[in-house]
Amino acid sequence: MTSLTHLIPAAQSVTTRGDETFVLDEDTTLTASPGLGGEERWLRMTLQAATGLPLREGVPGPRGGAADNSIGLHHDPSLPSEGYRITIRDNRTLIGSADTAGAFWGAQTLRQLLGPDAHRRALLRPTRWELPEAEIRDRPRFRWRGLLLDVARHFMPKDGVLRYLDLMAAHKLNVLHLHLTDDQGWRVEIKRHPKLTGIASWRPRTKRGHRASPLWVETPHGGYYTQDDIREIVAYAADRHITVVPEIDVPGHSQAAIAAYPELGNTDVIDTTALTVWDTWGISPNVLAPGDTTLRFYEGVFEEILDLFPSEFIHVGGDECAKDQWRRSPSAQARIKDLGLAGEDGLQSWFIGHFDRWLSARGRRLIGWDEILEGGPAPGAAVSSWRGRAGGIAAARAGHDVVMCPEQQVYLDHRQAEGDDEPVPIGYVRTLEDVYRFEPVPPELTAEQARHVLGTQANVWTEAMEDQARVDYQTFPRLAAFAEVAWSALAAPGERDFVDFERRMTVHYARLDALGVGYRPPDGPKPWQKRPGVLGRPLDGPPPPG
Ligand code: ACM
Repeated sequence: MTSLTHLIPAAQSVTTRGDETFVLDEDTTLTASPGLGGEERWLRMTLQAATGLPLREGVPGPRGGAADNSIGLHHDPSLPSEGYRITIRDNRTLIGSADTAGAFWGAQTLRQLLGPDAHRRALLRPTRWELPEAEIRDRPRFRWRGLLLDVARHFMPKDGVLRYLDLMAAHKLNVLHLHLTDDQGWRVEIKRHPKLTGIASWRPRTKRGHRASPLWVETPHGGYYTQDDIREIVAYAADRHITVVPEIDVPGHSQAAIAAYPELGNTDVIDTTALTVWDTWGISPNVLAPGDTTLRFYEGVFEEILDLFPSEFIHVGGDECAKDQWRRSPSAQARIKDLGLAGEDGLQSWFIGHFDRWLSARGRRLIGWDEILEGGPAPGAAVSSWRGRAGGIAAARAGHDVVMCPEQQVYLDHRQAEGDDEPVPIGYVRTLEDVYRFEPVPPELTAEQARHVLGTQANVWTEAMEDQARVDYQTFPRLAAFAEVAWSALAAPGERDFVDFERRMTVHYARLDALGVGYRPPDGPKPWQKRPGVLGRPLDGPPPPG
């Protein structure tokens, strides 16, 4: 078994050069061209821990090349953005890249080449660390290779988020979409609105399983990231060439915020002072009032968000906004009339449009779920296409950038096999192979329109995942298949070689073991991963077409 033939995600090309190997030892050095110090540090720290080797700083060889018995990171402007070339021969290893991200992804590949134990944080036993002579050329297919973590339904403590950033980096994923707010909780400290964390960050009890389940966990659930926690997450991500895109979901999915600040709700329809942070799942009817109080409040929220997150894109949600309260609200109806809007849908579009302009004026770009298309978003706005691919197709045709994340394919809360043992059978079955065969670029798009597909994203909604073990189980191994979809430009979708992917997975499972990931085993859940008695969503018929 050689790791060279077991890379995940697969590299663009791997050329072997005979049977020689480069053996790392106490004298092996690590060097980097100016500007690649961060990537050199990551590689040294990671490999020192796993191998016990010192990997001292070396002196670059002639013409910037690697000296004997060295690993060198060097700048090669001929290579594509985020791409790298690894050359292992004559007792040295060179990782060339045009940018720092390419050097980092090359370092990730180098770790895979050293074997699964290179993914541990301490040396287990005497090991011969060797690299096969070879040349590897690689580059990503998409520039947006995302994972959404829903930390609102169930809070993931900061350490868990840092761990997921490491797991994303190991799979060459580069966008963490943090779903920070929802009906069931608000997870980011906003200094000017302290009740968002004082009140909206916790609920006294939680529904276990689907909303129809009779099971309740009668203990408080909550938590939030302080602004320093967020700065740490963003910096840790940046060191790993990952951008954190924050989502503040408006105008729906906002009951927790209204519970903390009742003036944000439709006070002329219901008594919003009676609202609490929601303790069950679904689409809450309690949405933001489309008035000036709400706009000013959220401008304040977004001001602090922009200070914390350098991301070009800021996600404003925009999905699943129930319109019943707006239909019944005299003030919402008056606003529709005053502004000449096309009913409640026009009102939602006006609301999102406000933040579209507000963000553009501050040099950022709005991204929202595909519902934002319904009123025609501003020119710079981008769309997360979740209700199938139709929204993405319409958006790309209209010249908007798109991230493809259709629920039919890449919602990892959906169960991954048939059978009563599968824990919390939410939604329909999407196997490892189904995810592997997902094609983010719809064939309906012309080449010009397809350029608007920035990439793709797997979404992990956590209604039925209350802790890290549950999140690991749903996310892995399917995130490995997704990473190959997002990174590797190997073959047309129909030609993807799942048998070869499964063969490479045999080694990748050992990497996941070394990384401490509680994935779903290929032959089904372990006894403690099953959840007998917890009700999932009833499975009625095939999934909607995607
Ligand atoms: C979504 O799944 N409501 C974006």
